[in-house]
Amino acid sequence: MCGIIGYTGFEEATGKVTCGLEILEYRGYDSVGICAKGQDGIKLLKTKGRVSSLNEALSKSPIDSAFCAIGHTRWATHGAPSDTNAHPHNVGRTYLVHNGIIENYKELKAELEKGGVKFLSETDTEVGCALINKYYEEGCDPHTAILKATGFMHGSYAFAIMFEGEDNTIYAVRKGSPLIIAKGIDGYYLASDLTALLPFTKVYCSLNEGEVVRLTKDGAFIFNKGEPDWKVTNMSFESAKKGGYDHFMLKEMNEQPNAIKNALSPRIKDGLPDFSCDGIDDSFFEDIKEIHIVACGSAMHAGLLAAPIIEGLCMVPCRSYIASEYRYNPPFTQKGTLVIIVSQSGETADSLASLRYAKSQGLKTLGIVNAVETTIAREADFCAYTYAGPEIAVATTKGYTTQASLLYLFAVAMSFKKGITDKENAKSLTECLFFEAPQVVEQTLERGEEIKAIAKEIYESQSIFYIGRGLDYALSQEASLKLKEISYVHCEAYAAGELKHGTISLIERGTPVIAIATEEALFDKMDSNIKEVKSRGSHTVLICTDKMENAHACADRVFVLPRSSRIGGIFGAILAVQMIAYEVARLRGCDIDKPRNLAKSVTVE
Ligand code: F6R
Repeated sequence: MCGIIGYTGFEEATGKVTCGLEILEYRGYDSVGICAKGQDGIKLLKTKGRVSSLNEALSKSPIDSAFCAIGHTRWATHGAPSDTNAHPHNVGRTYLVHNGIIENYKELKAELEKGGVKFLSETDTEVGCALINKYYEEGCDPHTAILKATGFMHGSYAFAIMFEGEDNTIYAVRKGSPLIIAKGIDGYYLASDLTALLPFTKVYCSLNEGEVVRLTKDGAFIFNKGEPDWKVTNMSFESAKKGGYDHFMLKEMNEQPNAIKNALSPRIKDGLPDFSCDGIDDSFFEDIKEIHIVACGSAMHAGLLAAPIIEGLCMVPCRSYIASEYRYNPPFTQKGTLVIIVSQSGETADSLASLRYAKSQGLKTLGIVNAVETTIAREADFCAYTYAGPEIAVATTKGYTTQASLLYLFAVAMSFKKGITDKENAKSLTECLFFEAPQVVEQTLERGEEIKAIAKEIYESQSIFYIGRGLDYALSQEASLKLKEISYVHCEAYAAGELKHGTISLIERGTPVIAIATEEALFDKMDSNIKEVKSRGSHTVLICTDKMENAHACADRVFVLPRSSRIGGIFGAILAVQMIAYEVARLRGCDIDKPRNLAKSVTVE
């Protein structure tokens, strides 16, 4: 949700900042801007549109000999996407980019207006800029001005700030929004996300809440602390590039067999699950009375899939909750409630707020996170990384499958440690997850032509339905989100038995209904549900395992998943629905990696 970047050093700054902005576009892409200290002072360029529009503007109006710059790519919250609302904002002698929301900006704005400040934009950010500028112009040094101003702000922010009179220096502060600083051989950097800096350096430091930092070409200084505690990432720039695929989504879908293995392998010892690398030993499981999985979007769907698996294997109640509801409509908790926060980005505002809420209730928390060193990863009592590598496409694929596989392994671990599952069964489930699931994913990926044929039949539809029972209902919910998110086709997921309680009235001649059937015990019921919609004119597609004997008689088109156990079936079906979404979006000419209105990392509530 908005990406910010800054550089100060010995080389030209604008190229570095725009290069980083291109990588950060996944965080928002409705407007973009840069300000840089050139020969004639600080120059600001901003525009509605994407980084390509900014590059055009820069080619007409270059900022030469600039060795210090900050940039921003926006996902609009306050004020529609426009040149004026784009960042950076400038008030008086202060220039600033912002990721987050200043919730009390209206009150602050009213006060500042009384003092004579005239605002140009509708943004909360310009108010933040004006407040910092007020203290700076009153004579405070930049650090004090930032502290005084942010002391009045409610909400979240990561600010990168340039002040007239502080040449080639960037100040930054964060609260609730991510910000990392980095050190290169050519100078110092900051960004919302480390991937944006991988073309330049691997040496980084994550800022803690409330920390203020000053970057110059000669060093980075964290106020009240000193020299940053630098770390070196093992992420490579290559891993954050498209690598010959048409889209990041396609690349990331293809990375899933390895991603699942990467997620699981550190947690398997002698064929059995073992989370000791995450600090989780036998005692961790002892007092767990129930589990709440809390997350947003697809991560919440991974929870929906995992919750019945955990309940079934571990014999403790487990539910998946929407993070934006969790603390406003809090469920019953008790000593012994484990709260698992699932997040690819590790920065999702509602998931983070739920984590903090759970901790405030004294509950034990576990983060299942992909992006390393992010706020959820750092604040959770325990964190198990999914090690999926950078996920750039806005629609998650490998993020979801690694979350699902890790949660499944966690269920096996807990069940085994509690003595519910015996060693033999724990080994067999672990083996299925580690060997079979990636293999089925791989085999499904090879069947692109069959998926394209399905997509061709449905891509012009106004409305599509996914139906499933049991775990297949959870899969349907993710399938439906994936399809509508990137193809803009209306799609709903229904528990297959529920359609006839109202929604079946929407089925018209030709309406596609895609049924997922991997749950053997429910095949007969699914068969009936498919017939119910088929007899009302729908075009039926069935994704099922080879164990469903009458599949071809039951649906118009059938995609039989590679032969496997129950676990393999689940992962094969996930792949099939991701591929359907991708192909439908491609046929409809959609911007697959950057769907409209969206952003990858949702750092506002
Ligand atoms: C959908 C998607 C989103 C995210 C959700 C949570 O494809 O990617 O629904 O799953 O915004 O994001 P994280 O996992 O970063 O907390």
